[in-house]
Amino acid sequence: AEPGWTETTDVVVVGSGIAGLTAALYLREQGLHVTVVTKVNIDDGSTRWAQGGIAAVLDPLDTPQAHAYDTEIAGVGLCDPAAVQVLVEEGPARIRELIRRGAAFDRNPDGSLMLTREGGHRADRIVHAGGDATGAEVQRALHEAVRRDPWIRLVEHALVLDLLRAADGRACGLTLHVLGEGSEDGVGAILARAVVLATGGMGQIFSSTTNPSVSTGDGVALALRAGAEVTDVEFVQFHPTSFVTGVNSSPGDAGSPPRVDPVQRPLISEALRGEGAYLVDEAGERFMVGRHELAELAPRDVVAKGIYRVLRATGADHVYLDARHLGKEFLEARFPTIMASTRAAGVDPATDLIPVAPAAHYASGGVRTDLHGRTSIPGLYACGEVACTGVHGANRLASNSLLEGLVFARRIADDIARELPPQAEPARTAVTGSSWVVDPAIRAELQRAMTRGAGVLRSADSLDTAAKELARLAEQRSRPYTEAWEVTNLLTVAAALVASARSRRETRGCHWREDHPNAADEWRGHLLNAVNPDGSL
Ligand code: SIN
Repeated sequence: AEPGWTETTDVVVVGSGIAGLTAALYLREQGLHVTVVTKVNIDDGSTRWAQGGIAAVLDPLDTPQAHAYDTEIAGVGLCDPAAVQVLVEEGPARIRELIRRGAAFDRNPDGSLMLTREGGHRADRIVHAGGDATGAEVQRALHEAVRRDPWIRLVEHALVLDLLRAADGRACGLTLHVLGEGSEDGVGAILARAVVLATGGMGQIFSSTTNPSVSTGDGVALALRAGAEVTDVEFVQFHPTSFVTGVNSSPGDAGSPPRVDPVQRPLISEALRGEGAYLVDEAGERFMVGRHELAELAPRDVVAKGIYRVLRATGADHVYLDARHLGKEFLEARFPTIMASTRAAGVDPATDLIPVAPAAHYASGGVRTDLHGRTSIPGLYACGEVACTGVHGANRLASNSLLEGLVFARRIADDIARELPPQAEPARTAVTGSSWVVDPAIRAELQRAMTRGAGVLRSADSLDTAAKELARLAEQRSRPYTEAWEVTNLLTVAAALVASARSRRETRGCHWREDHPNAADEWRGHLLNAVNPDGSL
């Protein structure tokens, strides 16, 4: 089929979290016209759910070298040192610019920024807002800045389908499906001189995740279909402490209330451990003490594994976080979001232990980019969680993700402004994805298969089983429509993850192979993923 309508802009940005909106704002500073397309509503992505904060060197006693050191230790040999250097050196200036755009971070009585600590950091370097509602404040500020600018066109309820390429291979727009009215409804095309993917993560491939329902790997799936280099997708990080009962209460006041999703679990921020809460098992023992010099504040993969070992030994589905000694007053002032979601489920952290377990949280891999956010396809950029810039390696350090979005959004805007060619004609505009679309009814089954076979703990057997189950689910076809395309994307990225996880016969960062329990030097490199050009596996 051919697109029913076509629009033209300078740059099309796909996604409306911190990466997409920041890129749009910097592109505007370069005088370019920008169209932001987003799958549901502008505030529905992961950014608004971020609790802990943004890491950057803002304390005069801290140094970029120290931040780089902690980032690279967490990344277990797979970080790109040049990318890490960019992140830690440019981060503080980007946070100041975000403050100038209107984001209000928590401050000490003397007016200085309040800094906290999270897992893997050896210094206090995390800014936060509204206590534990950092993402909601960032999203609010960026949303307002974007709305104020008449030259940023926002298209909501728009699922991207495929990249459009010129005869010379350069990206020159994309096709998308819009649930809208009039000329915008249905499948259309946006032609642009550059395309920025900022579609976020893929946590929805698992049965429990801290990610919202929209995190279905759409950008990575599009990139795979387009033949862009995609790498490191086996490194999906599990956050150690998601709340195991209850519903997610709305984080802060960023726009409309989010949709309730059956697999999204409330996050219990690392910052709670940063402020002194500790993990205990059924018997009240602190099981992280003695396992790592930083105990509960070890890097995230170490804590997630520590918890998983207890769960396996006891057969329980949760351990506990003990924050009672921090006191009701402190907890209410510092962690209002967490207090609301736990209390809504009848757990009061001031008096009760909080049941927690790991849940899928962050894709460290994604569409491979250079230091300017350029992918392997000229004219196609990737920013934020969808990208693999090399800053996270095998395991992202806490609160480096919002930072990465800020830092690389600016670099992408600068690069686009430097090199923007005239609009090219697409070589073909026919919508491809439609030749291979799966039934959205498989979503929960896919999530269960991935959780069992490719979750926190993996082995050759478990991954083989997962691969077979995905192949079986891939047979269940559907006519093309939004939910079907979305689940097809989930299946595409799930299959890519399983393929890499099967290949990587070692344990490194958040990739934990029970049958290969150690890191091996021969695996100190990156695996690339590929699918057939029609998207089939
Ligand atoms: C948290 O608040 O624990 C999440 C921080 C992060 O994912 O970086």
